[in-house]
Amino acid sequence: MMGGVAGESAIEVRDLRKTYGSLEAVRGISFSVARGEVFGLLGPNGAGKTTTVEILEGYRTASTGTVSVLGFDPAQRQRALRERVGIVLQQTGIYRNIRVREALIHFGGFYPKPRDPDEVIALVGLQEKADATAGTLSGGQLRRLDLALALIGDPELIFLDEPTTGFDPAARRAAWDVVRSLRDLGKTILLTTHYLDEAQELADRVAIIKGGTIVAEGAPRELGVGHASRVRVSYRDALGEQVEQVTDDPTSLLYQLAGDALDRGERLEDLEVSRPTLEEVYLELTADVQEPEVADV
Ligand SMILES: Nc1ncnc2c1ncn2[C@@H]1O[C@H](COP(=O)(O)OP(=O)(O)OP(=O)(O)O)[C@@H](O)[C@H]1O
Ligand SMILES: [Mg+2]
Repeated sequence: MMGGVAGESAIEVRDLRKTYGSLEAVRGISFSVARGEVFGLLGPNGAGKTTTVEILEGYRTASTGTVSVLGFDPAQRQRALRERVGIVLQQTGIYRNIRVREALIHFGGFYPKPRDPDEVIALVGLQEKADATAGTLSGGQLRRLDLALALIGDPELIFLDEPTTGFDPAARRAAWDVVRSLRDLGKTILLTTHYLDEAQELADRVAIIKGGTIVAEGAPRELGVGHASRVRVSYRDALGEQVEQVTDDPTSLLYQLAGDALDRGERLEDLEVSRPTLEEVYLELTADVQEPEVADV
């Protein structure tokens, strides 16, 4: 009866493949998302993120492999699962003449324990537009309505496919607060985004997908370690020139640089030691390698 036992993961994906005609959009990916976790799927346009997410939502079917969502097979589209899941699709089209509050009341009716519509309207910052029709909303306001509709059923698992695309900077920060508050409530969230700062801020773990394959997975700050296990050391030399060095042994490098500078009676001005940002790691991992690597002879 129940979707699973406590402690079991919210989402399990094993060897998932999806082909469209001759195109293999998803090429055998596996990952799991723990209950209460915020998991980010990152990757370039066409990487296979929406395909994966929509298979998990039950909107598309897998070619091969297995997926489990709250213990259910989403392809069966059982009501017991749908009631526990909230969805922001990448592409949505809502009936233009419905008003914001009406839409929330209407869709809330499909759930056993919907949240209060006005509370959800306030959560996404649409108070001023509660009585406006969807057709009159701006792009970012419509996206906020999408988010509100995903939350009206008080779901325990939420799929957000580029939820903040089109949001102004303040609205994005507000949406981050919404995600954090959902996380604090113990909800599980699967998020896709092209904003690496968003992933860094919100996700407990991310998977970077490229060409239908997962090329890296882990906590955002740990992705920089391992693959690009380097630290960047920068400072201004005695001539005022900016110097930058990359190392996997910052302790030795700093010892040597500082020792040399002190011997010369100088200082390392504007000294900074930084790790690669998630964006730098992402760009490196998803870069198109044009020429095959030629081994050194
Ligand atoms: N219904 C479809 N029929 C045929 N090909 C499709 C279909 N949906 C997606 N594709 C193709 O599958 C690949 C993956 O698409 P998908 O939408 O999953 O990418 P994405 O990672 O979500 O990209 P984006 O960041 O642009 O949203 C793309 O090459 C796309 O053209
Ligand atoms: Mg997509």
